[in-house]
Amino acid sequence: MATAELTAWTAPCTLLSRREVGPDAIIMELALPEPMTDVAPGVFAMLSPADGSGPEIPRPFSLYDLPAPDRATFLVQIMGRGTQALAAVSPGQEVLCTMPLGNGFTLPAPERPVVIVAGGVGCAPFLHYLRLRLQQGAGARTHMIYGARESSRLYDYQAFAALDGIDLRAATDDGSLGFHGNVIAALDAGLANGSLPRDADFLACGPAGLLHGFADYARKQDLQAWLSLETYMGCGFGVCNACPVETEPEGPLGAWPWARTCREGPVFPLTSIRF
Ligand SMILES: Cc1cc2nc3c(=O)[nH]c(=O)nc-3n(C[C@H](O)[C@H](O)[C@H](O)COP(=O)(O)OP(=O)(O)OC[C@H]3O[C@@H](n4cnc5c(N)ncnc54)[C@H](O)[C@@H]3O)c2cc1C
Ligand code: FES
Repeated sequence: MATAELTAWTAPCTLLSRREVGPDAIIMELALPEPMTDVAPGVFAMLSPADGSGPEIPRPFSLYDLPAPDRATFLVQIMGRGTQALAAVSPGQEVLCTMPLGNGFTLPAPERPVVIVAGGVGCAPFLHYLRLRLQQGAGARTHMIYGARESSRLYDYQAFAALDGIDLRAATDDGSLGFHGNVIAALDAGLANGSLPRDADFLACGPAGLLHGFADYARKQDLQAWLSLETYMGCGFGVCNACPVETEPEGPLGAWPWARTCREGPVFPLTSIRF
């Protein structure tokens, strides 16, 4: 996990562009009030329409990409009131943004292999991560299994496929692209046939079912694993206690029975939480 304490800011940010990337998802590009450099991959923002048309509580979204130091993108799957209100913001209008929040992922040394397991919008923390791995010259030791129910829900798949030098594998439940089955089955197959390294950092993000399946599998296989959790949130910065996750008494966070996903997470070593 990244350890640097980040100073979050809140500001209205102009929506520069908005594009659809699947049946129920968009990418929103925001103009930032100040350039962001050295931001850890996997940090998140709390977002809401600046005109107050959304729910009172903003919603959390992983920082997806930084196309320029003063521009950030977010991949948003439209679920309920908060995301519908964000999707209704038009270019030129403003989104209220608080970021960067949370700890994010720490990149290992370039020689250490990494295996990423992502489902649907769970791909969002990893585009920036992969760009940093390429900058490290570690593309050949970076593997990603990106899964979804069907290929149309592999949101913005082309952006990942365009990262030259990364080993990207699709997995779809209906077999419409890549491995026919879920990401855990694809991971198991890759480890069994030796095309994925066992001695690696394993990182996962996605819906709760995927994360529980991954956590069980990683524990059984004794993999060194980290999870990026997507719990409900209230404030996003550690004061409302809406985002608890039970800690493992024997793990590094064990002094507290509960950790806050927004503050001590959203990225947790698997050994630190009861999940
Ligand atoms: C750290 C973090 C990063 C996230 N990053 C992204 C991202 O990059 N892109 C993205 O699309 N989403 C992301 N999410 C999830 C996103 O915040 C929720 O989908 C959003 O809050 C839903 O708000 P809503 O008002 O549209 O839906 P609600 O009206 O609040 O809920 C609609 C439906 O979605 C379900 N739901 C809502 N939130 C969650 C959740 N967190 N987990 C499981 N089910 C949920 C509800 O049970 C309900 O069925 C992230 C969450 C966290 C905590
Ligand atoms: S969301 Fe408020 S403490 Fe985590």
